[in-house]
Order: sequence, then structure tokens, then C-alpha cells
Amino acid sequence: MKNLLFFPILYITLNVIVAQAAVNVDYITIDGLDYFKEHGDKSNPALKSINSFASRALKLDKPYSVINTTVIPPNGDKREYFSYAPYSWPNCDGIPNVTDPQTQCPYETRDGKTNPDVKNLSDPSDSRKMIDSVVSLSISYELNDGDIAENFARKAVQLLDVWFVNENTSMLPDVNYGQVQRGPGEWKGREEGILDLRFYVYIPIAIKILEKSSAWSDYVEKGLRKWFSDFSNWLMNSELGKGVAKRSNNHATFYIAALATYLDFAGRTDEAKNVIKTFVDTTFQDTILKSGEQPKESKRTKPFHYQCFNLEALTYIAILSQKINGINLWETKTKFGGTIQNAVDFLVDLVDKGKVKEVESVLLPSLYKSRDYYGDKSGKYSKILNKLLQETDGAIEWWTVYSPKSLEGIKTGSASALLGSSLYGIFGLILGIFFAF
Ligand SMILES: *[C@@H]1O[C@H](CO)[C@@H](O)[C@H](O)[C@H]1NC(C)=O
Ligand SMILES: *[C@@H]1O[C@H](CO)[C@@H](O)[C@H](O)[C@H]1NC(C)=O
Ligand SMILES: *[C@@H]1O[C@H](CO)[C@@H](O)[C@H](O)[C@H]1NC(C)=O
Ligand SMILES: *[C@@H]1O[C@H](CO)[C@@H](O)[C@H](O)[C@H]1NC(C)=O
Repeated sequence: MKNLLFFPILYITLNVIVAQAAVNVDYITIDGLDYFKEHGDKSNPALKSINSFASRALKLDKPYSVINTTVIPPNGDKREYFSYAPYSWPNCDGIPNVTDPQTQCPYETRDGKTNPDVKNLSDPSDSRKMIDSVVSLSISYELNDGDIAENFARKAVQLLDVWFVNENTSMLPDVNYGQVQRGPGEWKGREEGILDLRFYVYIPIAIKILEKSSAWSDYVEKGLRKWFSDFSNWLMNSELGKGVAKRSNNHATFYIAALATYLDFAGRTDEAKNVIKTFVDTTFQDTILKSGEQPKESKRTKPFHYQCFNLEALTYIAILSQKINGINLWETKTKFGGTIQNAVDFLVDLVDKGKVKEVESVLLPSLYKSRDYYGDKSGKYSKILNKLLQETDGAIEWWTVYSPKSLEGIKTGSASALLGSSLYGIFGLILGIFFAF
């Protein structure tokens, strides 16, 4: 029975990976990309994934925009980003003559169970596709030369203009209608909606790359700086933003990662440093036990996943803080005496001992950054990096392209892993059924 469960899960995971792009938040450096351009392995599966995202984006004749939604946001303004609470379901018990459950029945939460009608809103998926397109196009711009490179940049700038700058099509710099709770009465956005936009930390980095292209313009530059400055203000001053800032789990960590990035980009670097400092003095203090366990995440339905998720944002903040000469988060202890290193070791040991029942590769983004900073005297980080990169096809690990030096001593997706990625799932399914009997 154990095998029957395990292999089909793997099968699903490997197929999903192909359709997904980069990890949630990460720090792309131009130096890393330039190094890859000179020395990188051109058969790297992540490079192939980036290329395919970029070439699909080049062919887009219709840019993404929040105004393309077919469902009008509650305040009637199509320029608002609009999404539904994913785990909310209508409960129409005892309610007579229901013609529209959305406005007549109270909604209740069923944790982990996604209501399929959240897909009726196009803003969340368009937003994600816009980011994946802009990031892959920017990387492709940096890795190429001449007209080919300029084509990638021109498309990226067009997508940024339509999503963030153009007065008629751009998203308003707020998340007042994120993860809206439906039901009778007024529909309001929830604090959780802010997490929908976590991928936007890539935009300032993409801009740094694109600035050198001939497609860049003062108009787009000014528009983007204003957008992220205004959005920072909304994050700091709105009730929803202030609510998230006071939370004790990954929502707060991703919020700080985003806010500090946008403030720095908008030229408000001192404010960015302060935001990180306040986070480190407050929320962070409760985050990691001396054992390395993250108690706010390990109590969730998927403890390994949520601990890795939170670490993704923590390691990102640590790097950002280093770049802007802020506090050194890598070396900072929580009130329990725990550090980021303890948290990584805790998860590495779980993988090493075969105790993880979830997808293990979600550890990769934090593991490579931690190995870069802390080194790897015992060799166990390298061992797990090797293992996890061999087990997946590596296509979603875009960092293997923009941070190629992090792979020193590590093998990327081998030929057998690549071939295996498509066959393994089917093979696994058969094996799983075989072992079940
Ligand atoms: C979204 O709306 C914009 C502005 O009207 C338009 O240019 C674009 O083609 C639309 N995109 C899609 C995918 O329909
Ligand atoms: C429900 O509909 C029936 C039939 O149309 C009607 O008689 C009844 O009054 C309605 N009940 C409510 C609470 O509106
Ligand atoms: C969502 O879209 C589906 C398919 O178009 C439709 O049947 C359903 O009624 C929609 N749900 C809501 C709540 O709008
Ligand atoms: C926005 O729409 C108005 C009215 O259609 C038009 O006059 C204006 O040029 C548009 N602005 C941009 C930047 O496209």
C-alpha cells in the first residue's frame, strides 16, 4: 500500500514540474548569468525550460492585463487584482430558494481543499504567466547578443508596460481584492491575498537586466519605480498589509521579502533595512527552535513543505539584506537560539534519514543558498543537493542557470535523470501497483 501511494504522487509531481517555472522568490544576479554564458553547461535542463518559456512569450501577440478579467471586481474597477479564497466553499444548508450560492450562502473554509471555481478569475494565472514570461525573457536577453537579445528585451518591456505602467491597462498598486471571501454581504479581500503576489520580487531584478537594452525607456522606468513605491506604501499602510506584518508565519516572511525588495528598488533603501531589522527583532525571534524546527510551519498539514516554503523567503531576505548592507540574518539567532543554518540542517536530516513523505525538492532553493553562505564541511549539503537534483529533471531549478557557481561539486540532471523524468512516472505507477499486491 505504501508503494502504491508513493509512486503515483511522484508521477503527478514530475508532470507538474514541466508546466511550472521558477521558484517562489529568489535572487537573480547578472554576474551569475554572465558566468553561465561563458562557462555554463548548455544542456542544463533549467536552461531548456527558460528557453521554452521565453520563446512562448515571444510569440504572445496579446499581453497580459488585469483588465482582461471577465468577472468584475466588487468595486467595479477592472484594474484591481481580483482572486477568490481558494479553500472557501458555499454552505447552503437550510437556505431557501438558492439561485446564486455566491451571494446567498455563507462560505466556510476546508483547509487544503481548493474550490475549482477560483479558476474562473484570470488575474492570478495571468499574473503568474506575466512574471514567468518577463523573467525568462530577461534571462534570455542577458544570455544572448545582438538582435536576438533585443527581441527578448522588447517583449519583456511591452509586458511590463501593459501590466504595470499603461494608464488604461495597468494593475492598481494594491491587493484590496486578493483571496476574497464570497457569500452574502460585502465581498472583501483577505490578508492572505498579499501572498498571491510573492513572485513580484523578480520584477526589480528583471528591470536591472533590461535597463541596458535599447527597448528600455524613461517612461517605463519612471512608471515602474512609481508603481513599486506606491505598492510599498499600500503594503505598509493598509489594514490588510499591517495585518500580515503582524502575523507569525510564512505570510509575514514573504511580505517582508517583498516589501524590502520594492523599497530598495524605489530608492528607499534605508526604509528597506529598517523593515528587515524590525522583522528580525520581532517575528523572526519566534521562527526557529534550537533544534532547527520551525514550529509555526511544522504544525501545518504539510510540515516539510511549509518549512521549506518559509525558508525560501528567509534565505532570500538574508541575501537581500547582505546586498544592501543591512543586518546579517544568516548569523542571527532567534530567542530559542536557532538559526537559518539549524533550520536547513533539520530538513536536510529528515531527507537524509528518509523521513519525508512530501516532495523533497522544495528544499533545493534554500539549500543551495545556505551551502553558498555556510560552506559544507561535512559534505551533507552537497550529498542532498546531488540526490534531489538527480531525482527531478532539474527543469524548474532556474537558479542552476543564474547562480551556476552554486553547483560546484554538484551534478545537475544527468542524461539518465532527463530520460527518466518522462518514463519514471509511468514506470513508477506500474511498479506501485505491482508492489501493492
Ligand atoms: C488584454 O487586454 C489588453 C488591453 O485591452 C489587450 O491589448 C490584450 O490583447 C488582452 N490580452 C488578452 C490575452 O486577451
Ligand atoms: C421560496 O419560493 C417559494 C415559491 O416561489 C415562495 O413561496 C417562498 O415564499 C420563497 N421563500 C423565501 C424565503 O423567499
Ligand atoms: C465558473 O465557471 C464555470 C464554467 O464556466 C461555471 O459553470 C460556473 O458557474 C462558474 N462559477 C462561478 C461561481 O462563477
Ligand atoms: C487610454 O485611453 C484613452 C481613452 O481611450 C486614450 O485617449 C489614451 O491615449 C490611452 N492611454 C494610453 C497610454 O494608451
